[in-house]
Amino acid sequence: MRAVTLDAVPAAPAVSEVEPSRPQAGELLVKVAASSVNGFDLAVAAGYLNGMMEHRFPLVLGKDFAGTVEALGADVAGFDVGDAVFGVVMKPFLGTGSLAEYVTVSAGYGVAKLPAGLAEADAGALGVAGTTASDSLNAVALAEGETVLISGAGGGVGSLAVQLAAARGARVIATARPGTQTDFVTGLTDTVVHVVDFTGDLEAQVRAVAPDGVDAVLHLAGDGAQLAGLLRPGGRIASPAGLTPDAVKDESVTVHPIMADPNAATLTTLAEQVASGALRVPVTATYALEQAADAFTAFGSGTPGKVAVTLS
Ligand SMILES: NC(=O)c1ccc[n+]([C@@H]2O[C@H](COP(=O)([O-])OP(=O)(O)OC[C@H]3O[C@@H](n4cnc5c(N)ncnc54)[C@H](OP(=O)(O)O)[C@@H]3O)[C@@H](O)[C@H]2O)c1
Repeated sequence: MRAVTLDAVPAAPAVSEVEPSRPQAGELLVKVAASSVNGFDLAVAAGYLNGMMEHRFPLVLGKDFAGTVEALGADVAGFDVGDAVFGVVMKPFLGTGSLAEYVTVSAGYGVAKLPAGLAEADAGALGVAGTTASDSLNAVALAEGETVLISGAGGGVGSLAVQLAAARGARVIATARPGTQTDFVTGLTDTVVHVVDFTGDLEAQVRAVAPDGVDAVLHLAGDGAQLAGLLRPGGRIASPAGLTPDAVKDESVTVHPIMADPNAATLTTLAEQVASGALRVPVTATYALEQAADAFTAFGSGTPGKVAVTLS
């Protein structure tokens, strides 16, 4: 099968022919229709996970997937051949990713059925970013009427988080560069989003909207400790971007480090929100698998929202 692979790390990803993996007991073989680029894929290619996870070469990259169940391993319940599914590859090793014609995934974790009304191209860009956004908002228990600062709102996670936060009835302050990124962020939802320019005086801009500090922060980019300083006393900050409690001096602030958990319940909730029109998957660029190098470049050079990869 064709796949986006690495023969070593660090290395530039290339499209090559590899043997498809066979579904083991408890696994699904999925014919992939769509995937997307995540920071994780770039981190693997850059060698940042070397020594932290087993790497199996040739290493097929890719976390997100949407497609059709092609075959079942032994002892799989709840899925049939032909089911439309989507999710996130959650193996304990790196090597059998979803930027490929086929992927094997555990039937028990990281996969859910695709509801009617959710396009495969959108579902293939939803898993990682959607669960990270949802888990972050749940961690800070963002409530109606509260003010949340979303730092990194122009990215894949942030653009879903802005929509989910607005749907909770929160007041949203979102960071964006002036120009295209600001236009993109303000267009994410019908409700008012207060955009602040992270290349300028962030603190002054946030305090102009929330003089006593914000109730919650989503740290998706930028300096987490600086962002925590914009919380009111007793505020909460969720960080999938590496902020840890010891880096924040104010002991009244709660820091929630996030490791996205793409369980079937969260994936299904997100999928239903998209299918109902309550949530939009912010795909702004789509590449064929053969153009994976361009997709990686686009992700790393400021494309707002999600960069999708489709297979035909
Ligand atoms: N822990 C987990 O399970 C998990 C899962 C998924 C993602 N993540 C992490 O979550 C973060 C967001 O992921 P993503 O996929 O949304 O990344 P992304 O698409 O690259 O988005 C990051 C966004 O932040 C903007 N940005 C850059 N510097 C900034 C600054 N100083 N202040 C505010 N915004 C800034 C970027 O703008 P420009 O492109 O214009 O620079 C971009 O719009 C990443 O750190 C990623 O590693 C963690």
